[in-house]
Amino acid sequence: MNIRIVTTQPFCDQKPGTSGLRKQVSVFQQLHYLENFVQSIFDTLEGYQGHTLVLGGDGRYYNRQATQIILKMAAANGWGRVLVGQGGILSTPAVSCVIRKYQAFGGIVLSASHNPGGPKGDFGIKYNIGNGGPAPEKVTEAIYARSRGITSYKILEANDIDLDRLGTVQLGVLDVEVIDTVTDYAQLMESLFDFEKIQQLLINSRFRMCMDSLHAVTGSYAHRLFEDRLGAPLGTVCNGTPLEDFGGGHPDPNLVYAHDLVEVMFGKDAPDFGAASDGDGDRNMILGRQFFVTPSDSLAILAANAKLVPAYHDGLAGIARSMPTSQAADRVAAALGIDCYETPTGWKFFGNLLDAGKATLCGEESFGTGSNHIREKDGLWAVLFWLNILAVRQQSVEQIVREHWQIYGRHYYARHDYEGVHSDRAQTLITQLRQLVPTLKGQRYQSYEVEYGDDFSYTDPVDHSISNQQGVRVGFTDGSRIVFRLSGTGTQGATLRVYLESYESTVVKQQLEPQVALADLIGIADQLGQIRTLTGMAQPTVIT
Ligand code: G6P
Ligand code: ZN
Repeated sequence: MNIRIVTTQPFCDQKPGTSGLRKQVSVFQQLHYLENFVQSIFDTLEGYQGHTLVLGGDGRYYNRQATQIILKMAAANGWGRVLVGQGGILSTPAVSCVIRKYQAFGGIVLSASHNPGGPKGDFGIKYNIGNGGPAPEKVTEAIYARSRGITSYKILEANDIDLDRLGTVQLGVLDVEVIDTVTDYAQLMESLFDFEKIQQLLINSRFRMCMDSLHAVTGSYAHRLFEDRLGAPLGTVCNGTPLEDFGGGHPDPNLVYAHDLVEVMFGKDAPDFGAASDGDGDRNMILGRQFFVTPSDSLAILAANAKLVPAYHDGLAGIARSMPTSQAADRVAAALGIDCYETPTGWKFFGNLLDAGKATLCGEESFGTGSNHIREKDGLWAVLFWLNILAVRQQSVEQIVREHWQIYGRHYYARHDYEGVHSDRAQTLITQLRQLVPTLKGQRYQSYEVEYGDDFSYTDPVDHSISNQQGVRVGFTDGSRIVFRLSGTGTQGATLRVYLESYESTVVKQQLEPQVALADLIGIADQLGQIRTLTGMAQPTVIT
């Protein structure tokens, strides 16, 4: 078989964002576009020759074609073996799990996560390193630099392989092993949680659960885990058949996009427990009967109850949360006498803390929760964690959350997104805030007094790398906060995110709707950021 060296020219827009390179499918379909980026990844890595690469995606449109291209490029570039998910499909957490289990050199995830799929939707590609986690910034920057100077790529001339048949085939000198999509991941879950207790809960007819896979990758995993293995009745998993366009939906587990589930869980005769996950299976949303658990609270509650779960029975080394995530987890960490780390947005920042054994649980406001079992956030892991807690405590989701607030206080929390803002306007808004906020200390806004204002900068405690300009923070003397940042994952225009948080320790005042409790802060945020004026929008497009 022949290795072809194809002449190409750089694309100038291959800079990975918060989580890999994400673009519209049509961008990826340009001649050489995917190939350039894949070659840039390979050119940046050192010493992979002869080693194992893991490859899988969330099954969205273009997943199969991209998989075949990458396999042929891996063969031409000297990889020894590729473990590829059946049909080209592996959830993001499963890629991380497989990399670690088989000590692969690294892995490639094909996904645009929660962004819509289909020919008019988005596609994405991300490289994960040998610890199973997203490549750190120095690697993604090197890939980007390489992509700007690339002149050729290597690809094997060969027929496509049969991605649906399990087993090993040869592609030139490369061994391609098509592996079952679910098995390794399911085994890992079984090693962490008390499956027997969860099973007792799920086969009990008085407990009802609804898992909405939003026609995305977790469908296969959820059917296998909840219905086949744990005995939940058939029908527990909804929208469980993965589709290339996610059924035309937006596979993002939040109150806006998972509306079918929200209707069920807030309707009459609602089940006891509801959950959803996103396109590639790393995000989660947790609901009780007529009750929404914010991701920030979820992290804090998992941490506070970790001892109920076999894998975390001996306690946590520490907790890590992204900066905009509420400070609810900090209170649990303080009570447990362990450290709580505050990192920039992006799961990659947790990698070093997990590797160094400084943190056991991590979480983000963006519906991501995970632990040291892999190096990605993990949607179904969070669902199983909740089920394990519910099975042991035999209380409702709402009771568990309210008891948590009684002990630790409630962090009212909301995120307001302004999508599709003109990039220049969004930049102006952030630039103006950067200049303004350091001058605000001591200023009063209604009942709030500014304690600090800054643009978050993070020094990694392990490798001491510094990440600047990670979001503008305004902290008030009572612990409330407003954070402004631009999304790093959007593909069209800019998305402004405004994160609002206030703290309430008095139990009788913990019953408000978050938008009501946060009303003053919402007004202050607009005043500080000139949001309505600069975006031209009277309201956010999404509130979570
Ligand atoms: C992805 C990343 C997360 C991040 C989220 C939101 O899911 O894996 O780490 O929190 O996107 O990022 P953004 O930059 O859009 O706020
Ligand atoms: Zn995702």
